[in-house]
Amino acid sequence: MAQPPPLPTVRSIAELRAVLRQWRQAGQTVGLVPTMGALHDGHLALVSAAKAACDRAVATIFVNPKQFDRKDDLDSYPRTEEEDSRLLAERNADLLFAPPGREVYPESFSTNVSVQALTDCLDGVHRPGHFDGVTTVVAKLLLQSLPDKAFFGEKDFQQLSIVSRMVRDLDMPVEIVPVGTVRQSDGLALSSRNKLLTAEQRKVAPLLYATLKEIADRLANEPGLRAEPLLSAGRHSLALGGFANVDYLELRAADDLAALDRVTRPARVFAAAWLGNTRLIDNLPVEPAT
Ligand code: PAJ
Repeated sequence: MAQPPPLPTVRSIAELRAVLRQWRQAGQTVGLVPTMGALHDGHLALVSAAKAACDRAVATIFVNPKQFDRKDDLDSYPRTEEEDSRLLAERNADLLFAPPGREVYPESFSTNVSVQALTDCLDGVHRPGHFDGVTTVVAKLLLQSLPDKAFFGEKDFQQLSIVSRMVRDLDMPVEIVPVGTVRQSDGLALSSRNKLLTAEQRKVAPLLYATLKEIADRLANEPGLRAEPLLSAGRHSLALGGFANVDYLELRAADDLAALDRVTRPARVFAAAWLGNTRLIDNLPVEPAT
């Protein structure tokens, strides 16, 4: 197959805005795909969704220090920009915005964007400050580019909910578009952190999806069933299967993330668990039986 042309890349907000201005003047719509790089087919599904819905797709790569609650996680986060750029070009992305740290956080940067609801559970509890880092950088990326639509994966469902709430609350003129989770054939959700798993850990990893799936299926098929006994058994089987620690395995409402013990409205099962030093998260929908 012929190589796609290299992807145009900009590193400053001024250059980004200059390109976007030209597209706007030509009447073209813009879809934004924020990422931290180390791209895989999950990220690339967002790019394809952006290309399908908009005239132009802009991907961003910025490993945002403000959203890392552990220094070792930030230091070990995979950085593969050259390969990422090639993959984006293959998916017909139009532009890569990959700013250096000082472009995003100049000296004396002093603003924090913090969503008060939806952040006090799940990863909000286990990763202090994480979502403030996410909303601060996503607010900046949206204001830097002012896209028509921005694409976020359901893999990070809590992040998607929080970003949607921020955009609504602050009247940001952008539509947040959810994209379904892309998985490997054994069910493991694609994640940049999967690269950090040893061969042994990689064999154990699909148990996270299998556990979620079993619980989601039982809850969907047996109306009125209490979730807690299933969740408790699930935590146990994750630990027995080789997960060092289970941060959470919980049933929550899909709209406001309220804790649920029965599926009385559209819900999701959420999990976060550790394999060695690598933390995996995943979630699945549970539709109430009709
Ligand atoms: P990152 O983890 O690189 O993910 C970028 C986007 O890809 C997010 O919207 C995420 O939900 C989506 N994604 C990741 N794995 C996916 C999968 N298997 N299937 C579908 N979508 C998937 O999330 C972030 O970066 C950052 O927090 C960011 C939003 C860029 C702010 O820094």
